[in-house]
Amino acid sequence: LKGINGLDKILIRDATATGCSAEVYLYGAHVTSWKNDHGEEELLFVSSKSIFDPPKAIRGGIPICFPQFSNHGTLPSHGFARNRFWTIDNDPPPFPTNASETAFVDLILKPSEDDMKIWPHSFEFRRRVALGPGGDLILKSRIRNTNNEGEPFSFTFANHTYFSVSDISGVRVEGLKTLDYLDNLQKMKRFTEHGDAITFASEVDRIYLSTPAKISILDHEKKRSFVLRKDGLPDAVVWNPWDKKAKSMADFGDDEYKHMVCVEAAAIEKPITLKPGEEWNGTLELSTV
Ligand code: BG6
Repeated sequence: LKGINGLDKILIRDATATGCSAEVYLYGAHVTSWKNDHGEEELLFVSSKSIFDPPKAIRGGIPICFPQFSNHGTLPSHGFARNRFWTIDNDPPPFPTNASETAFVDLILKPSEDDMKIWPHSFEFRRRVALGPGGDLILKSRIRNTNNEGEPFSFTFANHTYFSVSDISGVRVEGLKTLDYLDNLQKMKRFTEHGDAITFASEVDRIYLSTPAKISILDHEKKRSFVLRKDGLPDAVVWNPWDKKAKSMADFGDDEYKHMVCVEAAAIEKPITLKPGEEWNGTLELSTV
């Protein structure tokens, strides 16, 4: 299918359940839409100001941060995987079987010569976007070191998921109590979370460390929760830009911060290191209750 600005996108649908679907752009292997069997409603936030114009990343949905999270390193913000055209992987080596997947697409990214100039490592990044029971969204990432020269490499990673919420002032993120976090608004200083839940009344930009496998986002007004279940992704970024930062972003509406929250299943504090031939796996499953 053709998406915005003629960019190629893939629509996956659960043939057994009406209404469950996801949309993935080849540009960035970027998920821009997810609907499950609780209705026709869009569950991900995509900014109305997003320009869908490579090499700019799409604003919203689920950008992939790889091989660098944020600006903690020499690469552009969040690395380059979200700014590259991926290809369909027609015959991927089998993923660990998950019989409950009802529809899926496999994509692959390999570095170009230009990529090797800014990050000199050979890799294969395979991404499966799948629908599970009830339209759960399953995101599987596999990254392999294909460097024959025998050099290991390290990377950081995040599924930068933008959830759609009715009103940020009624949102609570649960499951991060008593954990340590690095505060990006305070020069990455380390703090400990004391609240039962994270609530939002100003900009929040934190990396929670070694979090449990399950995190919930409660949307008070909608009486709905998003549930994240993750494996291989120890950290969780929580981000809302609030008003001032929102105004400073050209591809984000001034008031849109009220209707989104990012909770990002990630591996950041301890970068993943792969020896030649080694592979890393990270899985994120999203559902609503
Ligand atoms: C978040 C970071 O994950 O992404 C923030 O924690 C950053 O610091 C945000 O501002 C958006 O990044 P970008 O590069 O998409 O504007």
